[in-house]
Amino acid sequence: MSPTDSLHYPEERRLATVLFADVQGFTSLAEQLDFEMVSDLLKGIWERLDKAIELHNGYIDKHLGDGIMAIWGAPFAGENDAEQAVAAGLDLIKALKEYCENSHIPGAENLKLRVGVNTGAVFAGYVGTRHEYTVFGDTVNLASRLEQIAEASTVVIGENTLRMVRDIFKVKRLDPTMAKGKTELVQPYAVEGRLSSSGRTRAQKVDNLLSNMVGRDEELSKLKNVYDLAFGSEKPVMALINGDVGIGKTRLLMEFGNLLEFSGENVTILSTRGMAQTAKTPFALWRVLIRNRFGMRDEDPAHETLEKWQLGLDSIRTKGMQSLKTEAAQVLGEIVGLPGQNIQLNEDVLGQVFVISRELLRSFSAQRRLVLFFDDLQWADRESLQLLTSLLTTEEAPIKTLIVGVARLEFLKSQSHWHNLARVITLDPLDLSPQMVRRAYPDLHFLPESVLEEVSLHAEGNPYFLGEIIKSLVKGGLFAQPANMDSQEIRNQLISQIPEALRVTLQARMDNLSREARVVALLASVVGRVFWVGAVLAAARSAPLPGSTPMLNVPESVIDRFIQDGLRQLVRADLAFPRIGTKYSDEQEYYFKNSYLRDVAYDLLPNRNRAQYHTAVAEWMIQLPDPAFQSMAQEHLRKAASSAKLPTGTLVPVPSEK
Ligand SMILES: Nc1ncnc2c1ncn2[C@@H]1O[C@H](COP(=O)(O)OP(=O)(O)OP(=O)(O)O)[C@@H](O)[C@H]1O
Ligand SMILES: [Mg+2]
Repeated sequence: MSPTDSLHYPEERRLATVLFADVQGFTSLAEQLDFEMVSDLLKGIWERLDKAIELHNGYIDKHLGDGIMAIWGAPFAGENDAEQAVAAGLDLIKALKEYCENSHIPGAENLKLRVGVNTGAVFAGYVGTRHEYTVFGDTVNLASRLEQIAEASTVVIGENTLRMVRDIFKVKRLDPTMAKGKTELVQPYAVEGRLSSSGRTRAQKVDNLLSNMVGRDEELSKLKNVYDLAFGSEKPVMALINGDVGIGKTRLLMEFGNLLEFSGENVTILSTRGMAQTAKTPFALWRVLIRNRFGMRDEDPAHETLEKWQLGLDSIRTKGMQSLKTEAAQVLGEIVGLPGQNIQLNEDVLGQVFVISRELLRSFSAQRRLVLFFDDLQWADRESLQLLTSLLTTEEAPIKTLIVGVARLEFLKSQSHWHNLARVITLDPLDLSPQMVRRAYPDLHFLPESVLEEVSLHAEGNPYFLGEIIKSLVKGGLFAQPANMDSQEIRNQLISQIPEALRVTLQARMDNLSREARVVALLASVVGRVFWVGAVLAAARSAPLPGSTPMLNVPESVIDRFIQDGLRQLVRADLAFPRIGTKYSDEQEYYFKNSYLRDVAYDLLPNRNRAQYHTAVAEWMIQLPDPAFQSMAQEHLRKAASSAKLPTGTLVPVPSEK
């Protein structure tokens, strides 16, 4: 990508994870080598290390001779940036080791990598005459500092990163250290490896608080009905749990699984799920499913994997499954991770894989009731979906099985034919009340009604939001001095900060929008949770659009069309809705799906343009006859004045509008 291409990335205040890695021992080795050899060595090293970063969806910021800086969360955010950065760090160390051990350059085997990773607020923008995109702030300096204190071949992370990966990696606390130019000590942690049962599935527990599933009785009983249907029929039957991010799809799936396991019925459940990282890997979902069934683990040595695979296959063959062709078995073997010849997946091979997979499932389902769980289908690879479809539509000898899929809303929107393949169960927001919060989190029973009311209001029916809100309250001392925490204080805490994990999720959602929709979201966030097209247009004309070079001499009609398109796309993405029967004037009123979304959008805006946007919105409001607009206009003018004096280096806490 050329530097001018990257000019399309918006300049923003973002939450990002920064990685520094440095090759230790390089300088002294380089002194003993000819510089052409040094160049070869560096080329070889970065070729491999860059690949490891890209594989984990990182953005390579720059190479600094024998070091590198990479970013996750800018220019685009993913939902598990911190995890990916740490995983990349571990892989970098492995990649360097492998490369250097096999290098013919004398002394290369002594090279070691040190890695530092830190997460926090940054400003993403451009430097230099070549307009290089990079990120700035204390977060970056601290990442570099962590790299300096890391022992050879270790990854050291900061406290913010730890909070996001605590359930995924095993870490060791190190001695606190002083960061350059700071008076406070920082607490570093060394990463010791992945926890064996890590995964994306959100912890069922929120900070060790017991949590009960609430408000899903109806959906659970629908699932039970589909279960009865499946085992009363001769064909696979599928239920598809459909719903928004964090609405409780995975939780429902797990609770249903528990129910089946404790029901005393003869049930085998095999689970798999899509992941953003493997969305383009053919059969990624089936691979996990089959590996689970055969008891294959990632840490198994190669010969053990092979043994388990053959044992698994044999158990089928002996049951008279003649149709298992050797070639097909070979392909499937490669899919589940055995070494192979990289067989190309053409129509013919695909067909064979389908046949053998069906045979496998048939043998799995012979003695026990087979239930397959597919979570996060929105990230399923195409081939896995094709196979699933073929199971549901084939006329061949049938298999008795229940398939339960889970997907976010966008899946059914873009692939509506699944309505015909599966019984769709849509999860709506929970109708949260203080009683429900108390039932969901019994440990919070001591909290007064008014506080629970406040909490359930902020969660807006989303159990994931609810969990994150409670987590952030616990962090803020909810249990340390419950008596002192009155509802006003809790309210203040709730509006003054967005739970960190929520910011990550919502930032990733913003980054998935089209450019037009994103610009509209950011401008509309200036207006508030509720906004009007006229106000957004006024903001758009007042200053450069967020994330773009100034649209000088662009006729207003072009800007208007851009905004109108963006608004339509924002509505289509389900992030904002038009309000029927508008409150104040003839202006069509819209509102953000939730207040956190508005806050996250607002926090992305560079401070330098906020004053202009607010002023423009105020001026637009002043012209309107409705008195309600007059007081809102005053509020915008106040914000315009105060945004000139923002503290730097933080993502500004902004009161959400309810
Ligand atoms: N009905 C419920 N009652 C109580 N807690 C719930 C309920 N549903 C979900 N939760 C909790 O809320 C959080 C989010 O739920 P879950 O992970 O199931 O969401 P999801 O819909 O799968 O989201 P995603 O699309 O991101 O995968 C989890 O901590 C879960 O345990
Ligand atoms: Mg889920």
